[in-house]
Amino acid sequence: MKPLTIKLPQNQIQYDIEFIDTYKSVQDILEKQINKRMYLLVTDENVYTKSPFFQKDINKYKNEVLVLPAGESEKNWNTVEKILDKAFALELDRSAVFIVVGGGVYGDMVGFAASIFMRGVPFVQVPTSLLAMVDSSVGGKTGFDSKHGKNLIGAFHQPEKVICSTNFLETLPEVEIKNGLCEMIKHGIIASPEHFNDLQRLGRDYTKSKKFDIEKLKPLIKDSITIKKNIVEQDEKEAGIRGHLNLGHTFGHAIEHLSNFKIPHGQAVAMGCVMATKFACGKGFCDQKLIDQIKEIFELFDIPTTCEFSEDEIFNAMTHDKKKKDGIIRLILPREIGKVEYYSIK
Ligand code: GLY
Repeated sequence: MKPLTIKLPQNQIQYDIEFIDTYKSVQDILEKQINKRMYLLVTDENVYTKSPFFQKDINKYKNEVLVLPAGESEKNWNTVEKILDKAFALELDRSAVFIVVGGGVYGDMVGFAASIFMRGVPFVQVPTSLLAMVDSSVGGKTGFDSKHGKNLIGAFHQPEKVICSTNFLETLPEVEIKNGLCEMIKHGIIASPEHFNDLQRLGRDYTKSKKFDIEKLKPLIKDSITIKKNIVEQDEKEAGIRGHLNLGHTFGHAIEHLSNFKIPHGQAVAMGCVMATKFACGKGFCDQKLIDQIKEIFELFDIPTTCEFSEDEIFNAMTHDKKKKDGIIRLILPREIGKVEYYSIK
């Protein structure tokens, strides 16, 4: 598969997202990318112990590897500090490169650590989860969670390369595949009826077999990344259209909080997309058919679209969302598949 190139000419930034089939090729590309520079490679315990990427050639990466505990609860300043401490212990300087082999939690933190180490060093993303492949590894949003909220401290820092290999999906639990699919479906809703239809076909296959066909998923991953790339290229810093990617997230974050993060992010976004569509329907943006279409596509993958929390509870929790500015909650509402709009509520 040909690489995609993200171009941000206003910042003189350009980088490739490579689509790679074998672990060996991932290692070869990574080695070429490192190219004699000093480096720090960060991963989490799950990926390190379960992924053949490390098992096959464990001696290749030794001192330079930092393996940290997995999970959203690790996404905090303490972990960022551990990453920086390791970089100092290795005596890295400004010519070094950081590498992350992991999901969105570590992708965001290593990217952030790279943005502040020595006032900024480059980093390479090797996403290992579907969510990280189609969303967090692309576009340069980095950061960590704090007592003030999720991802409220961070920086825009674009990777110098993304190496996307669906090999990693072989060892990924099904719930994680579904988390990524929710973001892919969201990409279809906001920008592409074709992508939505392709995912619907994949969903019908899944309903019959209850299995994911990674070969069929592969081209759709590239399509989904292309949608995100096109949006990021237009609006790197989220002054406008990039905000469309937040479809379902304002409701979704509230649901995640209310469930004490027991409902996974992707599922919360699925519920959020359906809630946003119901809200949009109430405001005359769309009709019941759109609600049914959006509910159906998630349900084809056995992704729940309702939760135990009442609308009042969710709206109350939403007032704490970071997308609320000046007392106004900015929602993204769908009009039809492939078309969404901002809508403000006071
Ligand atoms: N995950 C949404 C964005 O990157 O803007």
